[in-house]
Amino acid sequence: MNDVAIMLAIHVLAVVLWIGGVAMVTTVLLPAVRRAKNPQERLAFFNTIERRFAWQARGTTLLAGASGFYMVDRLDLWSSFPSIEYWWLDAMVLLWLIFSMMLFVAEPLFLERWFEERAKRAPESTFALVQRLHWLLLALSLVTVFGAVAGSHGLSFVP
Ligand code: HEM
Repeated sequence: MNDVAIMLAIHVLAVVLWIGGVAMVTTVLLPAVRRAKNPQERLAFFNTIERRFAWQARGTTLLAGASGFYMVDRLDLWSSFPSIEYWWLDAMVLLWLIFSMMLFVAEPLFLERWFEERAKRAPESTFALVQRLHWLLLALSLVTVFGAVAGSHGLSFVP
């Protein structure tokens, strides 16, 4: 079972870097960007930092997914997915799918262009929308981390 322990450690490291970064962007970067007076400055500042983070998020998402599915297979957890008791297993995969779609499909295909154009046209409402979406993803991530740690250590969520 050494391989599972190592994969779990890699999984948690990837999740720490990834979700920690989402928390930083949501609670520090976006509020700072929104305080910048000049809309042109806002976009440039946000682009420099968030573009770099997007690559980090892509790498850590791949690592978390690969290590996660390795553990599901080794621990033979496939049959646990439909069980309400293991909702946190579904939550992890769902969250991973949402982030993967955003980072690997929506962003390169259209989201980046849409954001740039809208941010130039209506910076105030665009950054407000982006911040709301980040808060939603962060909240879902934190609930998932709580469920994964408590659930895999024996907390029962079903009365
Ligand atoms: C494809 C996506 C994912 C899969 C297949 C997956 C699968 C797993 C599995 C099998 C475990 C071990 C459970 C056990 O020991 O019984 C685990 C642990 C964990 N996962 Fe995931 N996971 C995925 C994504 C995520 C995401 C997106 C997060 C965070 C938001 C996350 C957070 C955690 C945490 C914090 C643990 C550690 C629990 C502990 O031992 O304390 N996982 N994951």
